[in-house]
Amino acid sequence: MSADPQATTLTPPELSVIVPTFNESENLPVLVERLRAALQGVAWEMIVVDDDSPDGTAEVARRIGASDIRIRCLRRVGRRGLSGACLEGMLASQARFAAVIDADLQHDETLLLPMLMKMREGATDVVIGTRYAEGGSTGTFSSGRRWISVTATRVANIVLGRKLSDPLSGFFMLRRDVVEGIAPKLSTQGFKILLDIVSTAGKSLRIAELPYTFSSRLQGASKLDTRVALDYAGLLLAKATRNLLSLRFIFFCLVGLTGIVVHFAVLWTGVTLLGLSFEWAQTLAIAVAIANNFALNNAITYRDQRLTGVNYITGLLLFYVISSIGAISNLSVGTWLFGHEQTWWLAGLGGAAMSVVWNYAVSSMMVWRR
Ligand code: GDD
Ligand code: MN
Repeated sequence: MSADPQATTLTPPELSVIVPTFNESENLPVLVERLRAALQGVAWEMIVVDDDSPDGTAEVARRIGASDIRIRCLRRVGRRGLSGACLEGMLASQARFAAVIDADLQHDETLLLPMLMKMREGATDVVIGTRYAEGGSTGTFSSGRRWISVTATRVANIVLGRKLSDPLSGFFMLRRDVVEGIAPKLSTQGFKILLDIVSTAGKSLRIAELPYTFSSRLQGASKLDTRVALDYAGLLLAKATRNLLSLRFIFFCLVGLTGIVVHFAVLWTGVTLLGLSFEWAQTLAIAVAIANNFALNNAITYRDQRLTGVNYITGLLLFYVISSIGAISNLSVGTWLFGHEQTWWLAGLGGAAMSVVWNYAVSSMMVWRR
């Protein structure tokens, strides 16, 4: 390759600041101002990773970038997810170090410089901005949210098998090549990118912590909701089982458990309140439980490929067919097991496991195929 002499005149920045955004058009200009002040003397850039926010955050980022080449925007369409956004931002960077910071000014940007100093010393792979160490604080967190956060942190440490004061922090800096190596193994769903990186990279990762105070959001609303919490539970389970169980399969099983509850509720209602015969009540219960499982799997397990309109109806019908075959295999495996080993619950469990695996494998291929 012949070198273009002009191409070598620009060196990549030392630090990329990755800012994931969803509806942060009002906060972004303020954050840029604060970064400019906080990072004087540093060769930095900012990559805004926006999931096509309806409030026009991407345009705001581009407008700022028009007069400041250090600021650019990666606009993702048809996708959502904080972890995936952070990951893509880090992978789009050329810098030696990358930091992730929220756009809503809850993180203290003046910590970026001390973080960078720490990274430059070379003995650290990741610096975490922590709310739970000496000198840090969760600021205006309500006691409820603080309890949830502290509990989630404890659980995370058990899964990690390592003691970190704030493994769920969304504010950290790392050597970018750490992420480059493990990127294909990281989950793109949910909020817990740091936890995922630390657990995937393994025990040899050298981690430092710097305390800060979590501020309240400047403008707009938080996107941390029940679905994000569910994702977190799934990630922990997947990690606890060393990725043996995928997030999707775990959700599929949890949905299956709700199906059992629905089944018995309908069965009870049919027999006691409606006075149906057992056969009819049982048939009704099966039909409702399958519809329940389909609806929940469509809304949670496969929400990224959710079926709507006509596709919802054909998907449901297909799911009925698959589940019926699953029920038959449940019965035959259960009967076979019971013939070998006269333990009713073991045979029942074996049959149920068979049908769950069948339903999962086939429906992921036929109902929610990409
Ligand atoms: N691109 C993209 N896509 N950005 C997103 C998405 C998404 O789906 N969801 C949220 N963001 C952006 C927000 O715009 C914001 O800049 C940042 O990610 C954090 O989102 P918030 O909705 O403000 O989260 P939070 O304040 O409730 O949670 C913070 O604290 C948690 C720990 O308590 C975050 O820092 C979390 O990362 C952290 O785990
Ligand atoms: Mn926030």
